[in-house]
This record gives sequence, structure tokens and C-alpha cells, in this order.
Amino acid sequence: MSAKIIDGKAIANDIRAEVARGVEKLKRERGVTPGLATVLVGDNPASHKYVSMKRKACAEAGIESYHYELPKTVAPEEVLALVRKLGADRGVHGILVQLPLPFDDRPVLEAVPLSKDVDGFHPLNIGALAMKGREPDFAPCTPAGVIELLDRSGTRIAGADAVVLGRSNIVGMPVALLLVARDATVTVCHSKTRSIEEVCRRADILVAAIGRARFVKGSWVKPGATVIDVGTNMIEDPKATGGKRLVGDVDFEAASQVAGRITPVPGGVGPMTIAMLLRNTLRSAERS
Ligand code: GUN
Repeated sequence: MSAKIIDGKAIANDIRAEVARGVEKLKRERGVTPGLATVLVGDNPASHKYVSMKRKACAEAGIESYHYELPKTVAPEEVLALVRKLGADRGVHGILVQLPLPFDDRPVLEAVPLSKDVDGFHPLNIGALAMKGREPDFAPCTPAGVIELLDRSGTRIAGADAVVLGRSNIVGMPVALLLVARDATVTVCHSKTRSIEEVCRRADILVAAIGRARFVKGSWVKPGATVIDVGTNMIEDPKATGGKRLVGDVDFEAASQVAGRITPVPGGVGPMTIAMLLRNTLRSAERS
């Protein structure tokens, strides 16, 4: 069997077009322009690239972005003061502090008002995800993108056996909570999990977010399962331009022979993170 490829780029483009229409309507009907503040500390090249992609996507959707760049030597208090100032600014509907920070990120993430936490990283937003009868103001973008890919690819979540590989704050744990909220039966695997391949083979939905190149083998995939690969790992490849190539946490060639649906890397989950950030920013402006 050969899996249907879930085209994250096309789905993300659909969502970005939906957001652009929503932004247009908000401007027309209420004269409100959604605004996203981006805070970037230090000179991590990947962080610079991500933030510039986010700002470009904002511009394309009609969202204003306000950018703040601080040196890696900045005092944490200065970043805190900036985030508090942005929290009080009525033109700013979302605040994104790009991680990692060169110091403890917790006080900074907690200084973001819940109503502007479009990244969904505030512990109270994550906590609300874990509680019955509560909803976070915003779900974290990559996990929300995973759910969106399942929904838009026609994968049934309710009642499914879902396995999440990884338990990070940014992806694994919130994905697991979102799947539970959608009535999946969820197993979270990590470095101490025994017989991980057997656990994976029971999964109707397999989400890989462990950051290990091509860790999930084709033989671990249940025939017909939906496989969502969140991994972004650079590996050496003499044939690739620059000698390096991006691969996921799943052995795509082998897994796509067994799965029913699968996301590629690149072009699967990656583009969804930005699409969900734009959607969260629009929602925040609509609520303002
Ligand atoms: N660092 C890695 N992923 C993310 C993300 O989704 N948002 C922010 N702010 N930082 C990140």
C-alpha cells in the first residue's frame, strides 16, 4: 500500500487565505488591524530565520508586525519590561517571544497576558488544555497544526488509538492533551518507554516529535495509520546542496508504504505552525 501524502503546504495556504479574508473583514467592519509583536533575543540563526518567516507571513495576511531585537547580553528584566509594555499596548493583539532565550524563559512567558498569548506557551494556557470543561485562550501553534492536519485529511480522532512520541512543552505534551480533548485514547512515549515499536504498531494516529532523524521505522507503523511527522533534523547528505538535508523523525520512504496517510518533511507540519500563529493573532484581534 502507498500512503496518501498530507500536503501541509497546501493546507497551510488555505488557512492563510482564510485568515487574510478574516483580517480584511475586521478592518472593514471595525477598523481594527491585527498586530503581532515579535521579540527576538540573541543571534541564533534558526530563530532569526523563523521570526523573519513569521513577519513575512503576517504582512501577506494583512497583519501588522512590530519587531523587537535584543542582544544576547540583555538583562532578563529588560525583556520582561518590554513584554509588559507590549501587554499594555492596545495595538498589539499577540506577543511572540521566540524561544530559546539565553536565560530562564519562564518569567518572560508568564508575563505575556493570556489574552495575547498567541503562541499558547503560558503555563495557564497549557494548564487549561489539561482540564475538563476549560479551554485555553490559545492552543500552541504546532500542536494545533497537527490537529488541523488530522481534521483536514479526514482522519477520525474520536475513539482512535493515538501514540505521541515525545513529551516536550512545545509539541509532545500539548499534542497529547489536544488529542485527549478530542476523545482519542492517547499513549505518550519517551526515552524510558519499553517496546516502543510495539506501542507504535497499535497506533491509528502516530505523532512523532522526538527530534531523532528517521527514528520511526516502516515496520513500526500500523497498516492504514495516519502518521504525522513533526521532526526537523538536518542530516549529512553529500548529494544535497550544502551537503545537508532536512528529514523528519520518521523513515518516510518505508513508512509511506504502510501508512494510510502521512506528512512529508519538509512540507507537512512545518508550514502549519505559522498558519496557526496567524489564525491565533486574528482571533485575538477579533476578541479585542
Ligand atoms: N521555538 C521553537 N518553536 C517555537 C515556536 O513555535 N514559537 C516560539 N516562540 N519559539 C519557538
